[in-house]
Amino acid sequence: MSDVVVQIEGLHKSFGDHHVLKGIDLTIHEREVVCVIGPSGSGKSTLLRCVNMLEQPSAGRVWLLGTEVTDPEVDLDEVRTHVGMVFQQFNLFPHKTVLGNLTLAQVKVLGRSRAEAEAVARRNLEQVGLADRADAYPAQLSGGQQQRVAIARALSMDPKLMLFDEPTSALDPELVGDVLAVMRDLAKAGMTMMVVTHEMAFARDVGDRVVFMDDGVVVEDGPAAQVITDPQTERARVFLHRVLHPTEVDDAELGQTDASRAAAASERGRGGHGHRPPRAGGYGAGGASPIKLTDH
Ligand SMILES: Nc1ncnc2c1ncn2[C@@H]1O[C@H](COP(=O)(O)OP(=O)(O)OP(=O)(O)O)[C@@H](O)[C@H]1O
Ligand SMILES: [Mg+2]
Repeated sequence: MSDVVVQIEGLHKSFGDHHVLKGIDLTIHEREVVCVIGPSGSGKSTLLRCVNMLEQPSAGRVWLLGTEVTDPEVDLDEVRTHVGMVFQQFNLFPHKTVLGNLTLAQVKVLGRSRAEAEAVARRNLEQVGLADRADAYPAQLSGGQQQRVAIARALSMDPKLMLFDEPTSALDPELVGDVLAVMRDLAKAGMTMMVVTHEMAFARDVGDRVVFMDDGVVVEDGPAAQVITDPQTERARVFLHRVLHPTEVDDAELGQTDASRAAAASERGRGGHGHRPPRAGGYGAGGASPIKLTDH
């Protein structure tokens, strides 16, 4: 079909004898926003990286915009010019201004003139709300502003697909909302997006589809609101419950005695479980609100 942007068939990936992706099939159509959720280590980043061949799949095939990128003969650089990628770390050049960061690849890779590249850059800075920071250096910006610069830089290459890998998880809570708002605008403007995220409210409200991964397989793939609020599998239910109610006592986990329950609750209060506190709550209005998915 001509409107297929990403097609993944039977994708496997192993690192040595560690079998990480165990047969993934996934299709993303033009203008679709697909959010990928799942426990740490389930293979979300690896899947995203296999889409533009930052990781070489062990088996299976991947097509991007109709071109098979798993074909050894393919011109990967050409295909990748159509794909923007935004990571948890912003990866801006520290010695270049914001404008310099945004124009570099446009000139070097797309062959645009400096004037044209600057015009495109300024347009995209405007879109992410940073028109007045073109001459700043990355170190002079907040993490949220740097991430918006990274998004503007990706957009300046006129991508047909944007890949996001937890773009807000390195940010202070109060900076998350602005970045998610930019991503929401991008989705509204019709960008095709694949977003690995722990922001469940974003996934539910902005995603067209949510893909839940666990242990290297796609366990659920369905309409965003349905997967988030009414998951069909026990694995997804358990994951979502943990993410949405991280402080709730889990009987199975804690055993039955009041003493062990209290001890575990106290351990949890100290962050003893070691997983990131998810921010399923607000985006757009600061993002620092407590986790209450239903309160939007
Ligand atoms: N380059 C690598 N070499 C070896 N093992 C790797 C490599 N990249 C990932 N892995 C392993 O593959 C598994 C899946 O990792 P991946 O980063 O895809 O998980 P994830 O779902 O993105 O997790 P998180 O939510 O913590 O980001 C993990 O066990 C990880 O240790
Ligand atoms: Mg990851």
